[in-house]
Amino acid sequence: MVMQIIRSIPDMQKTMLALRAQPDCRIGFVPTMGCLHEGHLSLIRQVRRLGCLPVVSLFVNPIQFGPREDFSRYPRPFDHDCRLCEQEGAAYLFAPSAEEMYPSGASVFVEETKLSGGLCGAARPGHFRGVTTVVTKLFQIVQPHVAAFGRKDAQQARIIAHLTACLNMPVEIEICPIVREPDGLAMSSRNRYLTPVERAQSVGLVEALREAAGLYRSGETGAAALIRAMEERLRQQGLLIPEYVAVVDYASLQPVETVGPSTLCALAVKVGSTRLIDNLLINAAGETVL
Ligand code: PAJ
Repeated sequence: MVMQIIRSIPDMQKTMLALRAQPDCRIGFVPTMGCLHEGHLSLIRQVRRLGCLPVVSLFVNPIQFGPREDFSRYPRPFDHDCRLCEQEGAAYLFAPSAEEMYPSGASVFVEETKLSGGLCGAARPGHFRGVTTVVTKLFQIVQPHVAAFGRKDAQQARIIAHLTACLNMPVEIEICPIVREPDGLAMSSRNRYLTPVERAQSVGLVEALREAAGLYRSGETGAAALIRAMEERLRQQGLLIPEYVAVVDYASLQPVETVGPSTLCALAVKVGSTRLIDNLLINAAGETVL
């Protein structure tokens, strides 16, 4: 099936409504900002595995970027992204312009007020308000049965799951594993900003998390000890400047003192002008998941 690219909101809504009217058709939605990599493609595969018709959106959302962030330089390889989506079997690609999504006069925003303040939210004021607003709009436009998000952005995925529960949105949120480069660096559209030296040092993020996982598996349950070990590991790489190193409860995203099932170890670092994040989940069964 040839993938259809749709740029207008009314066309998209009409098309999606017609799909929803078909018995047995389940829409599996993968929102992205493009510059696609295996992490994004794994989400498309996951919605297909769930038996859904994959619908992808590609929109670099201006309102989730701060004034000094990388909105204007964010990579936009549109034709390549289209090919990747098509190869993965996406049926529709929704790629609106900023004017289409935010015509002048737009003055309604969606804000989550409990999970958004810490971690990335502390360093990026307004970021999650931009994310929850655009995701709410995209859900209204695409009307998916299922939407897939990556655990790479663990706080974002938690906030979206909470958003849909709080606002009674009829969509299931599927949180998918982190896809990594062979050396363990979490895939990210921003990795392409890294110079070769920065790229080599960036493996320090996952190594810090591996260290925390090893400590926990050897019986250490003090959050402070894990944080110290992660900070120490990051320090060994001179170019990694930590923004936060946190150990939080995976549901509430609040700091914990004792590490156990459903604990998230999360990091954000600056490498030159690039900001990278990664995390380790200790799942409900107590297993460490990178
Ligand atoms: P973007 O950074 O393009 O990511 C789109 C989706 O891909 C998110 O759910 C993200 O968590 C997931 N993803 C990115 N890297 C991944 C990796 N290495 N492994 C697994 N999943 C990965 O996140 C956004 O866009 C935006 O905030 C968006 C939700 C589209 C709203 O604008």
